[in-house]
Amino acid sequence: MNSTQLPWWKSGIIYQIYPRSFMDSNGDGIGDLQGIISKLDYLAWLGIDAIWISPIYPSPMADFGYDVSDYTDINPIFGSLADFDVLIAEATVRQIKVILDLVPNHTSDQHPWFIESRSSRDNPKRDWYIWADPKPDGSPPNNWLAYFGGPAWTLDEQTGQYYLHNFLPEQPDLNYRNPLVVEAMKGVIRFWLGRGASGLRVDVIDRMMKHPALMDNPPNPDYTDGVSNPQSRFLRVNSEKHVDVHNLIREFRRTFNEFGDRPIIGEVDYSIDPQFIASYYYEGKLDGMQLPFNFALTMLPWDAQILREFIDKYDQAIPPGGQPNYVLANHDRSRIASSVGTEQARVAAMLLLTLRGTPTLYYGDELGMTDVDIDPADYRDPQGINLGISRDPERTPMQWDTSANGGFTTGYPWLPLAADFAQNNVAVEQEQPDSMLSLYRRLIAVRRANPALVAGNYHSLDTDAEDCFVYLRQAGGQNFCIALNMGSRMRSLALRGLGQGKIVVSTHMDRGDIVDLSALHLRENEGVVIQLAST
Ligand code: NOJ
Repeated sequence: MNSTQLPWWKSGIIYQIYPRSFMDSNGDGIGDLQGIISKLDYLAWLGIDAIWISPIYPSPMADFGYDVSDYTDINPIFGSLADFDVLIAEATVRQIKVILDLVPNHTSDQHPWFIESRSSRDNPKRDWYIWADPKPDGSPPNNWLAYFGGPAWTLDEQTGQYYLHNFLPEQPDLNYRNPLVVEAMKGVIRFWLGRGASGLRVDVIDRMMKHPALMDNPPNPDYTDGVSNPQSRFLRVNSEKHVDVHNLIREFRRTFNEFGDRPIIGEVDYSIDPQFIASYYYEGKLDGMQLPFNFALTMLPWDAQILREFIDKYDQAIPPGGQPNYVLANHDRSRIASSVGTEQARVAAMLLLTLRGTPTLYYGDELGMTDVDIDPADYRDPQGINLGISRDPERTPMQWDTSANGGFTTGYPWLPLAADFAQNNVAVEQEQPDSMLSLYRRLIAVRRANPALVAGNYHSLDTDAEDCFVYLRQAGGQNFCIALNMGSRMRSLALRGLGQGKIVVSTHMDRGDIVDLSALHLRENEGVVIQLAST
């Protein structure tokens, strides 16, 4: 199989940039587009194929850009449309695709659409958002709760109705039962794809449609008062994921198709149910989103058996022609080095980059960056401020070098840098043959060079060795065996019938020996990629 015949989103590697934290070019302490442009050479050196940039549009930043006040411009904090054009041109020269973040479920309350909508009950844009009358006692129309605290409804005193916001009150939900809203969002999609974005990551794509009768949500049987997140008291079965969302996704897809093969990368609910994730591929038709994000690796216990079971089922559940995908971390979840520890983060990198499926890397994970402890008094994230569950720790500035602020800014960084930035940074790790960065770069290079790792089939193997996860990747006569020791004790594996092979990468970056797979020894926290004889 020739992996170059595949669309890039099937063969490539995506790298997520949280733009506020990547690189600041003007000393205001916040990353920007010129900063990203200045680091494209680094990204090309690393070997990734596409960058996904979290929102860069005008926004009051109540939710750091996920509250958009103008969908078709660039926030001056990040630069201008002209900078965006330069980014596309410079990325294209380096064969890097640019993916933007579309936030269709809600706007900012400062978006002109909402300002109009709330101005009077008979404003033509009233129905662009979800308004409802109070209950007779004046309370909200139903029991829906917002993700970031409190009810999902806020009363607009002036017009006497409540508006819906599944996140902050500053993020009112749009009404996709109004065809004008659908058309408006299609216009936004056309704007950015027409301007050079190679695809869009779509925020909370499954939440765009709610129950038309605004029915109450039922109680969550797993909820425990005082223990669970107070916002999870009810199951969100009516406030989101209404079945009508699938038609909307298909309609968006038709708009994407006007531009050729550009993926919708959809943020669907965090789930460890392979069937749920697979349900977004729409069976044989594949006419919905190309890549419904699979977040299972951010949620499952780091256990060889549990991971194997999930991955086997997920790989099987994807309909023919559909493309699996994997994520280790993102701007909403702990960094991988914090969730599984620094040693296992190396094994996780090997897993991510050798599975069948498009990998998405989170900026800084390639350095082994960890969550940074931030004093609750200094939280910036509204979820942290309201609920104590802050996402700031995983959003701290990229660590470029040993200079002040890790080379991220000459000003005062909007979030603090990790204390270890002088040891773990790009400049230092580029010089260390066994650094996390060198491991990532090597794994990426090996993946790119070998069609079996890009597009080959996946088949896991039984092994008696505890804590070990072993699988084969095969295509066109090329065979690889990946053996991961997910524990902290040395293990011996007897993988019969595979003969000998050559280790092409070890997570420890210190071996390239020929091994007999019937007596394979893995050190603690060691993973290996072994090239087997061709068949
Ligand atoms: C999901 C995004 O990833 C998260 O950062 C944001 O706060 C919510 N959607 C609301 O847009």
